[in-house]
Amino acid sequence: MDVHAFFEALWADFVTVAPAAASIRQALVDAGETVVNDHVAFRTLDRGAIRLDALEQPLLALGYERLAPYAFPDKHLRAYGYVHPEPGVPKVFLSELLTDKLTARSRALLDGLAHQVDADLVRGPEVFWSGRPWSAPTHTTYQHLLDESEYAGWLAAMGLRANHFTVFVNALSPALRSVEAVLRFAEARGHEANDRGGRVKGAPGVLLEQGSTMADRLPVAFADGDFVVPTCFYEFALRHAQADGSLYPGFVAANADRIFESTNARDRAA
Ligand code: NI
Repeated sequence: MDVHAFFEALWADFVTVAPAAASIRQALVDAGETVVNDHVAFRTLDRGAIRLDALEQPLLALGYERLAPYAFPDKHLRAYGYVHPEPGVPKVFLSELLTDKLTARSRALLDGLAHQVDADLVRGPEVFWSGRPWSAPTHTTYQHLLDESEYAGWLAAMGLRANHFTVFVNALSPALRSVEAVLRFAEARGHEANDRGGRVKGAPGVLLEQGSTMADRLPVAFADGDFVVPTCFYEFALRHAQADGSLYPGFVAANADRIFESTNARDRAA
């Protein structure tokens, strides 16, 4: 599989759980914009066959290279950014939950999920749109995980798939070439912006400004029935030039820390 087919398959899966992103993208296209994808993000656990060091192997096989590590101590996460040598190929942000930082109860619940994952699943890039590689958890398990780690609850319910796609704001026309302008564009079409930590995360000084919608809320099948939960969202990123004139290719931990909260429930203000 080449990297372009990889992103087509990822998007096809993503829009099944992020209809708002599909709608915003279409509205941008209808307005005459060229929508370029800046990056996608994935979540995983530091356990078993899907730990970051294993899950990154299909990305490396597609030609990606690790760029830089990022740490999120308050959320018990670590992450890497990945870049592809071919110009125009989106970046990848892969994070993992540090389960040793959680309570024994949550760790046991997550171990119960991780133990169900077959190592064969991680052999090819299809793992990134495979969804839940474990049997449906109960809503009680989801809620227990969610109470301790929003990230853990989301992962248990949603599994392995793009958590968000990201519009590269630099490629939009001048009237939309700011994160705030794109957020307003989305809001004007009925979508909610993530205002946790401010509407626009970052600033020109850190070379990256980002914003996002709040995740869609859709029915998801749990072992004990369907429940409406936050799914996936759309991000908007504006990159600034480094001293050498090239655009900053990395991520900014302080920005990403609040972008993660785009999957928080609406009534769980951070
Ligand atoms: Ni992102």
